[in-house]
Amino acid sequence: MAQGQIVAGYLAPHPPHLVYGENPPQNEPKSRGGWEQLRWAYERARATLEELKPDVLLVHSPHWITQQGHHFLGVKELSGKSVDPIFPNLFRYSFNLDVDVELAEACCEEARELGLTTKMMRNPNFRVDYGTITTLHMMRPQWDIPVVGISANNSPYYLKLDEGLEEMDRLGKATAEAIRKTGRRAVLLASNTLCHWHFHEEPEIPEDMSMEHPQDYNGYLWDMKIIELLRQGKTDEVFGLLPDFIQEAFAEIKSGAFTWMFSAMGYPNIPAELHGYGTVIGTGNAVMEWNLIKAGLAQAA
Ligand SMILES: [Fe+2]
Repeated sequence: MAQGQIVAGYLAPHPPHLVYGENPPQNEPKSRGGWEQLRWAYERARATLEELKPDVLLVHSPHWITQQGHHFLGVKELSGKSVDPIFPNLFRYSFNLDVDVELAEACCEEARELGLTTKMMRNPNFRVDYGTITTLHMMRPQWDIPVVGISANNSPYYLKLDEGLEEMDRLGKATAEAIRKTGRRAVLLASNTLCHWHFHEEPEIPEDMSMEHPQDYNGYLWDMKIIELLRQGKTDEVFGLLPDFIQEAFAEIKSGAFTWMFSAMGYPNIPAELHGYGTVIGTGNAVMEWNLIKAGLAQAA
């Protein structure tokens, strides 16, 4: 078997509002649009993903929370209805997804060998969380590429931040090794919002964009600083600033997907492609891409 490789990573946040704004047939609630800047950003990301032709999409979601260890979807086909518990008025999505169980098992095993507590999720009736579903829908609404879903152990919230993120670093290394050994051509999706300060009340019309703007100016400035550094390829500098960013902007990247993805890619200091930025109930969201083929760090198909 040829060695597998990671061909790209995307920062692919999961506000369910984006699915609601798009009105796909799978989502029950209907809207008159909204959050277009971010939905257009995802259109650009969908086009570059199409060119990459991956075998599998791996997604780490903060909203599949497993306090005991890191879990992996381990059922070949999963279907059901995913509901956002905070915004059930916006997101009730009928999903049907195909899991790359062999790769998921390899990730689980490699992570265990690196000392992490891990488990395969084998419940055939499992209701996949809205974070996983939203990120996957926004990146690939055709649902024709198998996926690996990884839970958030949320160790950075229970342990000291550096200890928790160190676990995510190990999870990333394990993921890369599993991809290499199984010969997959893989794309990683970090399902994280940046600044996570948000409004506490929803407008009467949720998609009324006259009500949408950053909730916190300092958080907005942080987002711009981090995005600018990432666009310049200053990954090391971003990771140096990460604890302060997480603390001051309440950044959702604390839950670990961002660190997992960068660790798996080897923390490349390459410029990110920014597909777009926008706020959702005041939180800051960027759709960004690190294309390892363009950077010469992976091979074209
Ligand atoms: Fe979230």
